Amino acid sequence: MALFVCKNCGFGSASWYGKCPDCGKWNTLTERPDFGPHSGPSAGKKESLKKISVTPLKKIKTQAKSRIKTGLFEFDRVLGGGFVPGEVILLTGEPGIGKSTLILQSLKNIRTLYISGEESGEQVKNRADRLGVDLNRFLFSSDLQVEGIIESAREMKDEIDIIVIDSVQTIYSKEIEGATASISQLKEVTKLLVNFAKRNNVTIILIGHITKEGEIAGPKSLEHFVDCVLNFEGEKVSNYRLIRASKNRFGGTDEIGIFEMTGKGLKEISNPLVFLEEKKSLEPGKAIVGVTEGQRPLFFEIQTLAVPTVLPVPRRVVKGFDYNKVLLLLAVVRKNLNLTLDNFDIYVNVVGGVSIKSTSADLGLIAALISSFKNIPLSPSTLFIGEVGLLGEIRKTYFEEKIISEGKRLGFRKIFSSKNLNSVKDLKKVI
Ligand code: TYD
Ligand code: MG
Repeated sequence: MALFVCKNCGFGSASWYGKCPDCGKWNTLTERPDFGPHSGPSAGKKESLKKISVTPLKKIKTQAKSRIKTGLFEFDRVLGGGFVPGEVILLTGEPGIGKSTLILQSLKNIRTLYISGEESGEQVKNRADRLGVDLNRFLFSSDLQVEGIIESAREMKDEIDIIVIDSVQTIYSKEIEGATASISQLKEVTKLLVNFAKRNNVTIILIGHITKEGEIAGPKSLEHFVDCVLNFEGEKVSNYRLIRASKNRFGGTDEIGIFEMTGKGLKEISNPLVFLEEKKSLEPGKAIVGVTEGQRPLFFEIQTLAVPTVLPVPRRVVKGFDYNKVLLLLAVVRKNLNLTLDNFDIYVNVVGGVSIKSTSADLGLIAALISSFKNIPLSPSTLFIGEVGLLGEIRKTYFEEKIISEGKRLGFRKIFSSKNLNSVKDLKKVI
């Protein structure tokens, strides 16, 4: 029996295909000659029976790992207090969003080996210089073979604390045939680097590009190899950037860090109103919601547009909000408010290019929809906080009191939440 393996994605099959059933690429399946009943590492020599050794967990020695602080409070908070030695982090985001800038800034004073396949040494130096990086501690290379990187890193492991790979899509393993950035290459280089990080207690940051259109498949397939996955998001047209962890073995995943991209790099933002523009009135279709990200109250503007459709199946275009949640809330509206939006195209957006993960924005989304449908504006000093259940009930959300008191402090005069509304039906009194 032969095994055919896809050079692009690593898919294995007993029979050959012209088109890989997994990744859909043509002519990428090749036969693995070493595969068969008489090959493989254990061929010919059977391993003898080995009993397992068992230790009470209590007796296992642990080392309190001291964190490497980045000095950027917003970033450290998302990491869970800084980088942990031996930790492997995958930092993803769209090209141009500011990943390299964030990393250069946060490693200002840390002994770093920076491998760049994206930019030349001169470009990196110019930028690092501008951002105030200690250039003596920063080692640079544009050599991209992972075996070479690891061998050199092993030799200088006492001189470096962190290795940055910018980006993981540009490095390759000499052992794998697939093109750079193919899934089999990405997996192999990541495995080798994770192994190195763990054995040598060196932190490794892998930068991975993703695009909204779907190239997500690459870095996504690496998520389970690494300790921490960070997403850097925002719109290039707006200057605000948000970082959050979608996986974190050494910290939580509910904190976010907010930055503004300025001429002098990223600036940390602590103002909870940063995503709201100062306005005397709102247009119909907009509502302001209060949510918490981690422990911290934040306020966002939700925009919706409901317009009569010309299509047999109306459009639902959603940005910054969970698509299925919007469909669910539309069903709740239809049932409880007698408002049929079936003949309307619906567009939903969150101002600032960020996405809201918190469920406490549900109530505000419905208020915005009604506002658009009725063409009646809501006031910019009205705030909505609340999760909406399947039956239209309004649920109390985490840290509701905290959002309310912060909202009051910041000048919201009417605050609607589970405290004064029981069901979405009660929105009739509001709008
Ligand atoms: P970059 O970090 O190169 O993005 P990525 O690594 O995610 O591809 O940053 C991209 C943009 O940030 C670039 O268009 C220029 C802008 N920028 C600033 O506005 N100010 C700065 O100080 C720096 C360093 C970059
Ligand atoms: Mg970059």
